[in-house]
Amino acid sequence: MESKDILILANGEIRDEIIAAGIEMLRTGASADDVAEKVARDVEDDADEHSVGFSGLPNVLGVVELDASFMEGRNRRAGAVAGVRNFRNPIVLARAVMERTPHVLLVGAGAERFGDEIGAERKEMLTEAARNIWIERMHKIGLSDFDIQALQNPLAPQAALIDIVQRAFNMRDGSDTMNVFVRDASGHIVTAVTTSGVAWKYPGRAGDSPIIGAGNYADDRYGAAACMGLGEIAIRVGASARGVHNLRFGMSMDEAGADVCREMSSYLAKGQWVRMLMLDAKTGSVGGYATAEGLHYKVQRLNEDRPTKYEAMKIAA
Ligand code: GLY
Repeated sequence: MESKDILILANGEIRDEIIAAGIEMLRTGASADDVAEKVARDVEDDADEHSVGFSGLPNVLGVVELDASFMEGRNRRAGAVAGVRNFRNPIVLARAVMERTPHVLLVGAGAERFGDEIGAERKEMLTEAARNIWIERMHKIGLSDFDIQALQNPLAPQAALIDIVQRAFNMRDGSDTMNVFVRDASGHIVTAVTTSGVAWKYPGRAGDSPIIGAGNYADDRYGAAACMGLGEIAIRVGASARGVHNLRFGMSMDEAGADVCREMSSYLAKGQWVRMLMLDAKTGSVGGYATAEGLHYKVQRLNEDRPTKYEAMKIAA
C-alpha cells in the first residue's frame, strides 16, 4: 500500500489536530481500528461540538441520548449502540459490541448495562451550553418555563410529546453526525460514526448512525460510505450500503454518491438535508455528496502534514 493510500477521511467540522494525531498513530503502525476509535473518542470529548458526545444537544426532554457504530471492512464485522445515556464515549461501546458480543446493535438500558459491564466511563453529557440551547428552542416553539420544568420532572404527569417534537423538528438544530474513515497500511478500512442525533428528538429515537447499511458501511473490497444529516432519510434509502454496492456493481465513486444523494433528495422536505462521504477502495479516492451547499469534509493522507478541507458536491434531485 502506497503512503498516499493510507488516510483519514472525516467531517469538515473535526479539528485538524485530531485528524493529524490519528495520522501520526498510523505512521507508527497503529491499526485502522485503533485510529478510528481514537479519532472518534477525541471528537466525542470536544465540548465545542454540539452534535456529538459531551455537550451534544439533547432530546425533547433535555436528556442527551447518543448513537454510535463501528464497522470493519475486512470481514464486515460491525457493532453499534443507540439511545445511550451518560457514557463518555459511545464509540467504545459500539466497538466492544462488535468485539465482545454475538450481536450488532444494543439499545437503551441494555446498551448501558453492557457499558457498565465492560467498565466504560460514565459521565453526565449535558452541558450548561447545550441545556441553554434546548431551553431557548423550547421557548421558541411556545413552551413556558413551567412546561419546560414539567418535561424534566419525572414525577410530573407525562407530557404529550408528539406535537412538541413535530414543532421542534421543523426548527431543527444540529445533526452533524461525525463520520471517521481510516485506511491503514494493510489496506484495511474502518468506519466509526458517532452522534447525539437530531436535536429535540422523541426519547428513544434512533437515527441512521447506529444502523449498519444506513449511516455506516465498509467493505475493503469496494469501499466505504457514511452519512450525516437527517437520519430518517438515510435509513429509508439504505444509503451507505447502497453507495458501496454501487461501487461493487461498477459505478465510479461520483456516480455512486450522486445516485444515493439523488434518491435521498426526493424524500426531503423543505429545510432538510443529507450528506454522504465515500472512499473508493480501488482508486483510493474520497468524495462527499450532499443535497445542500456548504457541507465540508477533510482528508489527510500519510504523506501529508495536515488535513485538507473540501466542500461536498451538491447533487440536485
Ligand atoms: N444523522 C444523524 C441522525 O439523524 O441522528
